[in-house]
Amino acid sequence: MKRRHLPPVLVLLLALSLLSLPFRRRLFLPRGPSQYYAGGDALLRRLAAADAGGDQVRAEAAALVANASVSSFPSIGNRYRLLYLRLPYHTNATSAPRQRAVSRLRVPFETVPDDGALLAAFRASLRSFLLARRQLRRRGGDDDDVVAGVAMGGIGDLLDRHPRRERFPTCAVVGNSGILLGSGRGGQIDAHDLVVRLNNARVAGYAADVGAKTSLSFVNSNILHRCAVRSAVAAGGCACHPYGRAVPMAMYVCQPAHLLDALICNATATPASPFPLLVTDARLDALCARIAKYYSMRRFVATTGEPANNWTRRHDERYFHYSSGLQAVVMALGVCDEVSLFGFGKAAGAKHHYHTNQKKELDLHDYEAEYQFYRDLQARPEAVPFFDETPGFKVPPVKLYW
Ligand SMILES: *[C@@H]1O[C@H](CO)[C@@H](O)[C@H](O)[C@H]1NC(C)=O
Ligand SMILES: *[C@@H]1O[C@H](CO)[C@@H](O)[C@H](O)[C@H]1NC(C)=O
Ligand SMILES: *[C@@H]1O[C@H](CO)[C@@H](O)[C@H](O)[C@H]1NC(C)=O
Ligand SMILES: *[C@@H]1O[C@H](CO)[C@@H](O)[C@H](O)[C@H]1NC(C)=O
Repeated sequence: MKRRHLPPVLVLLLALSLLSLPFRRRLFLPRGPSQYYAGGDALLRRLAAADAGGDQVRAEAAALVANASVSSFPSIGNRYRLLYLRLPYHTNATSAPRQRAVSRLRVPFETVPDDGALLAAFRASLRSFLLARRQLRRRGGDDDDVVAGVAMGGIGDLLDRHPRRERFPTCAVVGNSGILLGSGRGGQIDAHDLVVRLNNARVAGYAADVGAKTSLSFVNSNILHRCAVRSAVAAGGCACHPYGRAVPMAMYVCQPAHLLDALICNATATPASPFPLLVTDARLDALCARIAKYYSMRRFVATTGEPANNWTRRHDERYFHYSSGLQAVVMALGVCDEVSLFGFGKAAGAKHHYHTNQKKELDLHDYEAEYQFYRDLQARPEAVPFFDETPGFKVPPVKLYW
């Protein structure tokens, strides 16, 4: 098996195994230039470990397992049905419950299982999603130890099953920043062994600047949801593969309701038109949440002079989230000998995305803080928090091409 043909499942499992090794042993003394931050680096690390966003996602998943319903009505002749995922809610403590539509999708009648079977599959999928996250918490003990605890369980199995821990010599993670326009970096990007693209950004028409090769498509679950919504008009069901059907997709779940979209898209797959999709592991999600929050707090403290605890005045913790780009980069650190980042920067006048006209950044990410993480990866990898707590793990060389 050639390295560049490793299946995506293996890629991610490798990422997880390698990333987790570092957390076997925690050193209690933080290293690096941490003294600059009020309360110290150790405080930032501790606060970053409290994952309110993860709590929110778990609560949503638990509510769906307990109380969600699925019902549908014929639509467009009898070939499709209009499907509602609903959740009861109360306007106040004494009112009768009302039903809120969490999701509304037009799906093919034949291929997608009937409402009862679909709900059962959805609940099973939610349960395993929750189980992985709860186990992670439990094993980790207190919040401080979530990631460290992760390394203790499951990793041995993964390694046994996948003894060939081959790494990709060179990887490119291609961000979607408008700074890529006119860069002429297409050829350079395509020359990497593994090319990861984000959120289904188009390459058609931009190949000279962003390249054309894609080995792994990394998306957040909103992207898949949009594909599922469009599935009634798309030939062959959920059309979610702008880079070709064979290119595997890895998705992180920002709303647990999107696990229903994954089931629906999977159900519309055929042998001729498969739907290779992998949901990211709870451990990788937890690590990314920590990194994003740590850097956001550090930036907050440095720019405002306020204590780290006051970070929540600027960000709603429950909806604060790492970007798909950050997660793809962290995954790449686990499976690559060398990681190059393209299209992650900003410049005055450059579009937010090279492929859309979106002007504003999303508030739920702190992109500036994420850039600081990438800069640290390049300039002082030995001081990158969480990774540095590990004797065994070495951050591979990272190059930023703005
Ligand atoms: C499910 O609904 C019941 C009744 O409204 C409510 O008491 C319960 O908290 C809900 N379960 C979850 C996990 O949200
Ligand atoms: C609760 O909501 C119901 C209807 O939604 C309303 O009639 C009732 O007055 C509300 N009760 C309180 C205490 O606000
Ligand atoms: C996807 O569909 C295939 C059958 O087409 C099934 O075997 C598999 O379990 C499904 N995967 C998920 C995650 O539902
Ligand atoms: C921190 O936030 C509180 C309000 O939550 C505010 O009263 C206080 O002034 C802030 N601290 C600083 C140092 O600005």
